[in-house]
Amino acid sequence: MELNKIACMDCLEYLGQIPDNFVDLVVTDPPYNVSQKNNLKFGGRVIIKNFGDWDFGFDPVPVLAELRRILKPNGQIYVFCGTEQIPIYIREFIENWFFRNLLVWYKTNPPPRMSKTNYLFANEYIIYAIKEKGKPSLSTFNFSSQSTMHNTFISGALQGKERLKGKNGMAIHPTQKPLAILKKLIEVSSNPGDIILDPFMGIGSTAVACKELKRKFIGCELNPKYVAWANSRLNTRNN
Ligand SMILES: C[S@@+](CC[C@H](N)C(=O)[O-])C[C@H]1O[C@@H](n2cnc3c(N)ncnc32)[C@H](O)[C@@H]1O
Repeated sequence: MELNKIACMDCLEYLGQIPDNFVDLVVTDPPYNVSQKNNLKFGGRVIIKNFGDWDFGFDPVPVLAELRRILKPNGQIYVFCGTEQIPIYIREFIENWFFRNLLVWYKTNPPPRMSKTNYLFANEYIIYAIKEKGKPSLSTFNFSSQSTMHNTFISGALQGKERLKGKNGMAIHPTQKPLAILKKLIEVSSNPGDIILDPFMGIGSTAVACKELKRKFIGCELNPKYVAWANSRLNTRNN
């Protein structure tokens, strides 16, 4: 298994090639299954509701089984997910893993609710678990301070310089995640030199966070365009 490389392939095929007990940490952001068939036009603006074919019908259960096999016994996992996926993940983690926490990313600038018939979706979730039930003290957990270890992240959805945009000004990836959150998870649950896996790399945010923190990464992404952008991000970072 080549380290510090993003393979362009389907995750189950890729995970099948990784030996048992190989990685220290999984940090991943799989499809949320929240896409709708059509984007929304409102007051001259287009609100993206269809992220792509990949965001329809994703089943996390077989992927989780593979991730559990590949993690070291005290290895840990963080999975980003949407609201309706919480019960699926939590049931899996309680039954087959050691469920540890539900972290909330509270976005201060959620997408508007044009219909005004429901609350805005301002939260995304990150589920945290350890592979084996037992002693959490055997897993790496770099607790910094009581004031910085809350299970809530507060930040805007990604905009500004960090958001990768094409020449037309449109975001390259509809669900790019903030490096600050990824780096926090990685710093807490791994040490420099550890191997971190993300089988849903998108434009490589987990890989970039690993590179900046001197961790090794492995992972895959189905869309060659996203892999190319991920490699270009990685190659423009010198550290
Ligand atoms: C939520 S996005 C991840 C975005 C990423 N966190 C970032 O910041 O760029 C999920 C990604 O998984 C990819 N994907 C979906 N199904 C896949 C599969 N079966 N195998 C590999 N990648 C897949 C999609 O193309 C998409 O880029």
